Amino acid sequence: MSDIPRLISLPKILDDRGNLSFIEQLAHIPFEIRRTYWIYDVPGGEIRGGHSYKQNKELVIALSGSFTVVVNDGLKTSEFTLNRSYVGLYIPNGIWRHMENFSTNACALVLSSTIYSLDDYERNIDNFIKSKR
Ligand code: TYD
Repeated sequence: MSDIPRLISLPKILDDRGNLSFIEQLAHIPFEIRRTYWIYDVPGGEIRGGHSYKQNKELVIALSGSFTVVVNDGLKTSEFTLNRSYVGLYIPNGIWRHMENFSTNACALVLSSTIYSLDDYERNIDNFIKSKR
């Protein structure tokens, strides 16, 4: 499968006591996990992200609530609304992305393939588009 943003359905163990999902690196997602962070307490109308990564790949999950991830590969824009804790959006490197329309109590869990590095960010959309030509 080509390396494009796509939804990944995670295992879901149904249980009367409460459901359970899990992720194993390189099994359910195509990268090793070097970092995890989460975004929460987002005020209504705020936007997070708005950049691409040169190397970092990620999986974004709405652990609670909902939000929309807008991705752009340099040619076209796609939107993914996440609102299930057993579905992740895989975003390879080289994709411009931002997150918007956070619901109250939304929590975005992000699994990343690299440790944090400011140098890995491209925050200029014009440079991003140029790099895709
Ligand atoms: P950033 O990725 O720039 O968020 P956004 O793209 O939504 O604006 O991160 C915001 C701040 O958090 C920035 O000062 C760097 C810091 N940060 C870390 O220290 N480690 C991390 O893993 C992440 C994702 C951010």
